Amino acid sequence: MENALLSNEFFGHKSVMSHEILSFLDPRADGIYIDATLGLGGHTEKILKHSDFRAKIVAFDVDDESISFAKNRLSKFESQVVFVNKNFIQLDKVLDDLSIREVDGIVADLGISSYQIESGGRGLSFLRDEPLDMRIDTGLRFTAFDLVNELDFEEISKVLKNYGEEKWATRIAREIIKTRQKKPINSSLELANTVSNAIPKKFHPRKIHPATKTFQAFRISVNNELENLNIFLEEASSVLKPGARIAVISFHSLEDRIVKNTFKRLSSSCVCPPRIPKCVCNKKASLKILTTSPLTPTTEELINNSRARSAKMRVGEGI
Ligand SMILES: C[S@@+](CC[C@H](N)C(=O)[O-])C[C@H]1O[C@@H](n2cnc3c(N)ncnc32)[C@H](O)[C@@H]1O
Repeated sequence: MENALLSNEFFGHKSVMSHEILSFLDPRADGIYIDATLGLGGHTEKILKHSDFRAKIVAFDVDDESISFAKNRLSKFESQVVFVNKNFIQLDKVLDDLSIREVDGIVADLGISSYQIESGGRGLSFLRDEPLDMRIDTGLRFTAFDLVNELDFEEISKVLKNYGEEKWATRIAREIIKTRQKKPINSSLELANTVSNAIPKKFHPRKIHPATKTFQAFRISVNNELENLNIFLEEASSVLKPGARIAVISFHSLEDRIVKNTFKRLSSSCVCPPRIPKCVCNKKASLKILTTSPLTPTTEELINNSRARSAKMRVGEGI
């Protein structure tokens, strides 16, 4: 890890849909922006550049290694960026502590970075033999090892269905239980092999590894990704200045559905049942939706960056 950090090997990493983010956020020199998912700092760097290196950015990441990496990369702009090694669900509290009431734009590029998969050690890749951890925030209590080896059949099936939309969920859950009766499933390769064994060979997907959805499901579950996204979107919409924008990039349908439904809810005023003649909820819309359907990367970006393949971006504007 140390070597990867120092080698700049990942500095060539390409941030997804940067062009679209800049055109919606149009970052200004006197603006304050939130990068909810700093990662390697690519979007933050682009926002800084676009604002002539004068905007202020509050940048979150739960992963301390990504924070160190981005700090190193953005060291020239130290006075411009507040690095926050916390979960983005703490947005309200962090802004309060910084005496910031409202912001001029927010970007969230969800999930994990290729750096986190490739730099190793966390069991996020089914192609490497690593301890089954999967925590992005190492302060979390439960690892993927705990879930894989301690949940019962029903619970594992539910994780795989709800967080992986895995149609072989029950077969995989059964195989996990059978395998761990002999000895605990300790590593990412052991889990990947267990999943491969559970799905009949002729049904192995051609374009992705058979364990792709299982890995996604356990990772989402370990890191509470969907619950966190719900909380974050509510908080984020409440700190946008009128006219300020939030751009959220998601990488699978579960995330995109949450962004779509939360934006819809935040953009609607009264939510009283239709049979009530007069509004009693007094709910006011806090967001205007700017993308009725999600934006996807251009063909050119897809040619240059395979990670952008499944990206979908939705944008809202504070009211
Ligand atoms: C796709 S990467 C972001 C890449 C970044 N936009 C760039 O251009 O380099 C997502 C990052 O979000 C972080 N992350 C995921 N969930 C988070 C959360 N709930 N709070 C804060 N950071 C989170 C991950 O650790 C990861 O570094």
